[in-house]
Amino acid sequence: MKVLFLSPVGVLGGAERSLLDMVEAVRAERPGCELSALACADGPLVQRLGEVGVQVAVRQMPESLRSIGDSEDPGALAFLRTALGSRGASLPGPSLVRYLGEVREVVRHFVPDIIHSNGIKTHLLSAALRGTGPKMVWHVRDFLSQRPVVPSLLRPLAGGVDLCLANSRAVKEDTERALPGVRCEVVYNGIDVAAFRPAPGQDQAASPAPFRVGLLGTFARWKGHELFLRATAHYRARFADEPAVSFHVVGGAIYETSNSQVSLPELEALADALGVRGCVTFHPFTESPERSICGLDLVVNASTRPEPFGRTIVEGMACARPVLAPAAGGPLEIVEPGRTGWLFEPGSAKALASAIHAAACSSPEARAQMGARARQAVESRFTRRELGRSLVAAYDACRP
Ligand code: GLC
Repeated sequence: MKVLFLSPVGVLGGAERSLLDMVEAVRAERPGCELSALACADGPLVQRLGEVGVQVAVRQMPESLRSIGDSEDPGALAFLRTALGSRGASLPGPSLVRYLGEVREVVRHFVPDIIHSNGIKTHLLSAALRGTGPKMVWHVRDFLSQRPVVPSLLRPLAGGVDLCLANSRAVKEDTERALPGVRCEVVYNGIDVAAFRPAPGQDQAASPAPFRVGLLGTFARWKGHELFLRATAHYRARFADEPAVSFHVVGGAIYETSNSQVSLPELEALADALGVRGCVTFHPFTESPERSICGLDLVVNASTRPEPFGRTIVEGMACARPVLAPAAGGPLEIVEPGRTGWLFEPGSAKALASAIHAAACSSPEARAQMGARARQAVESRFTRRELGRSLVAAYDACRP
């Protein structure tokens, strides 16, 4: 069986790290399977795929497609809609026509049985691949119905899709609403439990050491950095920093989409304005988040929109760290509150501050037990092994 993965980006966000996991998982489950990839931009994802022996073709997306992000710039979208011919009769822009030709050429070269698209922009592109032979799988990692224009762009194309995979039950339900009639199955992310494993934290010079609370992720606006900083301010005001907590933000603006990300200067200015600059440390984006996680006592997810899945939560749990996430979307399927982590009221900085306080006040033994249960939960539900089984079964089911 030959699978061609399509990635809209070349950076290593959650969806792309999940793509690397899928490669390893499918290979382990079906060793003869031939895997290749088309990335619409160069970057560390391309390098990592190459390192694990996946043949990758990079075809740089035209700017008009590349800059469409969460903001869904209406101008770019109108252009795209016309260009893909999903509505209106105008001629496609020449750069896009050329690009679609290049993409078709890659497919002809690899001759895959399955095309596995890993992002909205490549779902759109896959329209140009209709009739080239392979079965089409869309991996949905977003709540499509929350996007203003995307559902109406995807709907007319969904007829050509053999199977949608959703990264959580919540996303499956949403996909079925947004794209009526599609076949959709849940495939949870599976992570490398050998890399994400319990390891001692960094040496703590300060004595008594502060309780270390961290938010890891890309700088997409909805990932809740602002909420996290506001919670920091609440914590200091309400609990007078008792017990002492140090706050950490790990990540960066890695995507090219306009307006949809916060910048480091913006976050620093907000921290200044809130008077918490001194107790928040900003750490750069890392390709090895496991090290950052093991330096923390509590892993926070502060997303202000429901998280489709919430990979960093599972990574924190795999490292036997207590996690704290909003009670919405994917986290509701991952965290068993009070047993394998904690949940808080989505969007509430006060609730987040109180939950951090409760965690900081809990005994180290209680947190260690929670961490151990969290690790067990990941080992039984979110492994690459499980991922490989589900993916191969899904591929088999959509082949004749
Ligand atoms: C997307 C989602 C995130 C998920 C990741 C991997 O980035 O926003 O919730 O963890 O994909 O599926």
